[in-house]
Amino acid sequence: MWSRILLVLAFLGLSLGLDQVRYDNYKVYNVRIDDLEQFQLLRSQEKSLKLSSWREARHLGESSDLMLPPEYQETFETLLINHNFSYSLKIDNVQYHIDAQRPKQRITSMEWTQFHTLDEIYTWLDLIESRYPDIVTPFTIGNSHEGRPIRGVKISYKEGNPAVFIESNIHAREWITSSTITYFIDELLVPRNPGVRDIAQNVDWYIIPVLNTDGFVYSHEVERLWRKSRLNSDPTGECVGTDLNRNFDFLWMLTGASSDFCDETYAGPSAESDVEISQLTAYINNSIPEGSIKIYISLHSYGQYVLSPWGHTAAEFPEHYPQMMHVAKGFSDALLRRYGTVFTYGSSATTLYEVSGSGKEWAYAVKGIKIPYTIELRDKGRLGFVLPPEDIIPVAREVTEGFVGMINAAREMDVL
Ligand SMILES: *[C@@H]1O[C@H](CO)[C@@H](O)[C@H](O)[C@H]1NC(C)=O
Ligand SMILES: *[C@@H]1O[C@H](CO)[C@@H](O)[C@H](O)[C@H]1NC(C)=O
Ligand SMILES: [Zn+2]
Repeated sequence: MWSRILLVLAFLGLSLGLDQVRYDNYKVYNVRIDDLEQFQLLRSQEKSLKLSSWREARHLGESSDLMLPPEYQETFETLLINHNFSYSLKIDNVQYHIDAQRPKQRITSMEWTQFHTLDEIYTWLDLIESRYPDIVTPFTIGNSHEGRPIRGVKISYKEGNPAVFIESNIHAREWITSSTITYFIDELLVPRNPGVRDIAQNVDWYIIPVLNTDGFVYSHEVERLWRKSRLNSDPTGECVGTDLNRNFDFLWMLTGASSDFCDETYAGPSAESDVEISQLTAYINNSIPEGSIKIYISLHSYGQYVLSPWGHTAAEFPEHYPQMMHVAKGFSDALLRRYGTVFTYGSSATTLYEVSGSGKEWAYAVKGIKIPYTIELRDKGRLGFVLPPEDIIPVAREVTEGFVGMINAAREMDVL
């Protein structure tokens, strides 16, 4: 009843265009940061130029993808030129690509030609659960902060299989992740080639397509580029949301996370402050047999990386780093061989940037899961979060192939 009323209200809100944030003529720049002075300069201008970071350079010599509204672009470009930044323009009008992601003619059934809403994904989960009851076991880790169920499926063809755990869309705006993983679920149910049939039948897959349900719905209905949860812990009420992938209880807030409510990497008021994370870890602790999960994957976009621990230090590597790299190579090579897409692999701290309190770090250090990754899907920064819907199937196909390579490599290393 309430959900029906809420649906109607949400629909009204949408059709009246209420509160939909628009990004007309917002641009995304790729800016290389060569020295500390440049780094600090950008930091100091963040608020006054309304810079919002799509991807942040954390080491000198790397680039950041920065979005800003039209009224600040001239000032920004002048600043870049005067301070010798090397930069390029990646996206000319963000709204154009957002519109392209929301076709007028909605197809509500899952065909992977559109980005689907949470309701559409859940209706599809209902469908596969009733169609394949022997293979699909539904589960719910609990409700989100705003009361939406956080659903998952276990796909298992037989008893005694090793398990892989995948959480996706922990960051709300990374829509390609839930699109890809639902396609992969479909492949597991109706395998189209022997490699996929093998990993479907001989591995158990626990998959949560949308972990950050509140943020995901918010990114559909209000602010397309929303990343965090919707928990409001800022006493002034100005800035909402926790970066859920900084909220896990391992080295929480040590590095690569922020205590500023307004930052995109705000780690929350305390470790596991957000129910999305506390219920996820409780579910893994209490509802999955200890030791059965061999691989933990957190799906993200973008950048085309397979990232392992450690996130907090580049100075040392975890004990199982050789196995992690062998299995990551299995994933990347399979993709490259069949589709020519390049995924770079390595530890987070050495490959991308330092991070702590993320899911894969918790999975390894607290749960002893030897193969834990953050996988960043396409692209490498041309369109970032606003990939066209035509890319869903190619991305999903290559990731499926990657998972076949990953499982085979894990078997070679005896970690499965
Ligand atoms: C920019 O580069 C030029 C030429 O290399 C140099 O003269 C100038 O001092 C630099 N400006 C800044 C702000 O670093
Ligand atoms: C989950 O289990 C780990 C040990 O395996 C423990 O440290 C942690 O506190 C548990 N978390 C929850 C939420 O039960
Ligand atoms: Zn992410």
